[in-house]
Amino acid sequence: MTIFANGLSATRSGRTILHSTDVEIRPGERVGLVGASGSGKSTLGHVLIDALRAQGQSVAHVPQSPDEALDPLRSMAFHWHEAERALDLSPDPDRQQSLFRALHISGGDLRKRPWGWSRGMQQRFVIAMALIGTPDLLVMDEPTSALDPVVAAGTMELLEAYLADRDTALLLITHDLGLAARRVGRLLVMDEGRIVEDAPTEQFLSAPATPAAKALCAHRSWLELPC
Ligand SMILES: Nc1ncnc2c1ncn2[C@@H]1O[C@H](COP(=O)(O)OP(=O)(O)O)[C@@H](O)[C@H]1O
Ligand SMILES: [Mg+2]
Repeated sequence: MTIFANGLSATRSGRTILHSTDVEIRPGERVGLVGASGSGKSTLGHVLIDALRAQGQSVAHVPQSPDEALDPLRSMAFHWHEAERALDLSPDPDRQQSLFRALHISGGDLRKRPWGWSRGMQQRFVIAMALIGTPDLLVMDEPTSALDPVVAAGTMELLEAYLADRDTALLLITHDLGLAARRVGRLLVMDEGRIVEDAPTEQFLSAPATPAAKALCAHRSWLELPC
């Protein structure tokens, strides 16, 4: 199902932090939402999730750190069952096994609490939980910035392999253009609460059009990019 949300906006303390914005994402599409810190990426992510859920679409969210998704006092099994319950799904060991295999966490002990798992495993568990209900859209907000680069890259590769032949679309929110450029086919650039550029990744890298996009390209991290 194509994702459509029109007229998304947000105001905080009398200040407009997201100006009226339309978002369209096709089934299975991989889209990056990039921009400087404070440009409104997370705000757009949250407002988009609320709007799509209000439309009855299934949207899952992966926060920046597993700490935001996991209660330190509860076992991993508890979290998994809660996620199933929230979606009105009955426990399904096959579904759990296939997601655990896909994210390489089959060896994790579900009786343990989050701190009994490594950070990388915790975040892959959170991603697996987000996929339980086969969402139309997975919104990931800086999903790997709490991980070391090798673990981060491995996590994104496992997720990509899992999503490859599925209709779940991905919105990858990141301030890291290098990360987004390698993972998505289309980039949205935010600046001061507006999407100022929406372009295929290749086109964006070869010819950034707006000052915000040019700045992102110019100040990209050390990762080698063709721009
Ligand atoms: N609850 C809030 N109250 C006031 N200002 C906020 C709130 N949430 C975000 N902002 C402001 O809105 C702007 C966009 O924030 P955010 O969406 O978090 O940006 P990004 O994710 O791109 O770093 C920032 O200037 C931030 O300070
Ligand atoms: Mg943010």
